[in-house]
Amino acid sequence: MKAMDYLVKQGLVRLIGVSNFSVAELKEAQSSAKNSIVANQVEYNLLVRDQGKYMGSMESEILPYCQNNGIVFIAWRPLAKGHLAKPGIKLLDEISEKCGRTQAQVALNWLVSKKGVVTITKASDISHIKEDLGALGWKLAKDDVNRLNKEFPMVKSQKEYKKWF
Ligand SMILES: NC(=O)c1ccc[n+]([C@@H]2O[C@H](COP(=O)([O-])OP(=O)(O)OC[C@H]3O[C@@H](n4cnc5c(N)ncnc54)[C@H](OP(=O)(O)O)[C@@H]3O)[C@@H](O)[C@H]2O)c1
Repeated sequence: MKAMDYLVKQGLVRLIGVSNFSVAELKEAQSSAKNSIVANQVEYNLLVRDQGKYMGSMESEILPYCQNNGIVFIAWRPLAKGHLAKPGIKLLDEISEKCGRTQAQVALNWLVSKKGVVTITKASDISHIKEDLGALGWKLAKDDVNRLNKEFPMVKSQKEYKKWF
């Protein structure tokens, strides 16, 4: 973190961000840095909320900590590597049909509807890029956000995680 401070001082980087940091790691890193940590990039999507590849508690602990401390929460793998960009998950299909948006657009909109959350989807196909851009400029109804928050069949264990990825 001292090296990061040095890079800011030299004008070589503007702001400091980290990735896959737990709350304890964020606190420890911040206590060693003069500059504020402005972003934490964390695995997070409708399916993967609290059991990820590298860590857990993304939704229950890291997200609220980032929101309360002005740290931008950058959700990586927002489409669960494409699993959320196709039909097959009943609730997502239902909400997608109801609002006339694709599954990918609903999944991305759900993410950015949350305070302090931005996301980095990856798409190499131009039609996918165009579709994903359609996740912006509209809002999911509150009821739909609540249902996605509460009823979505999210991954609950490492065993389940491995089935998907
Ligand atoms: N910080 C970290 O530890 C970490 C770890 C892993 C990944 N990441 C970052 O997270 C970002 C994205 O992660 P990711 O690539 O693993 O997952 P993702 O963005 O959830 O999914 C990408 C997959 O979804 C497909 N896709 C995108 N839009 C689609 C659409 N509208 N319809 C159908 N399929 C669609 C893409 O296909 P096409 O390519 O064919 O378009 C690609 O196969 C990357 O920038 C990566 O660097 C960060």
